[in-house]
Amino acid sequence: MAGYTELTGEKIRDLIAAAIEARRKSYSPYSHYQVGAALLTADGQIITGCNIENAAYGPSNCAERTAFFKAVSEGMREFAAIAIVGSPEGEELTQYAYPCGVCRQVMREFCEPPQFQIIVAKSPEDYRVMTLAELLPEGFGPENLYDGIEQCAGRE
Ligand code: THU
Repeated sequence: MAGYTELTGEKIRDLIAAAIEARRKSYSPYSHYQVGAALLTADGQIITGCNIENAAYGPSNCAERTAFFKAVSEGMREFAAIAIVGSPEGEELTQYAYPCGVCRQVMREFCEPPQFQIIVAKSPEDYRVMTLAELLPEGFGPENLYDGIEQCAGRE
């Protein structure tokens, strides 16, 4: 299981910069709201994602879930933190973009709520850090279905 990863200011800035770069790839012709995310694995890799919309609306995917699904599909299972940047189309980040409820639940599947850190940012110098436990208190997770969390989500 992933423990708590101490995030240095430099690591946080790297993650935010990666999220800003990922946001440039956002495919959001319907909402014109662009989101980028950078997911830090427990062993220090950074996996990015952007939001990807669809003409049928429903199949659209958030940036955070794109990053998680990319990482999980490559065999990664332990995560330390995610940086998220989102704002209406354009270079300027005008707001802190907190993850939607569905993305919080996806994080809950693979992360330990007190340890997983969520960074929302307007720039590499202007950010807020909180834990998944703060953003999804008393959540429903794999351990509700199984005796041991080790048996869930492909954990060894
Ligand atoms: N979006 C994200 O990518 N992450 C969130 O947590 C909230 C919303 C995307 C979905 C959609 O493409 C656009 O932002 C507007 O909702």
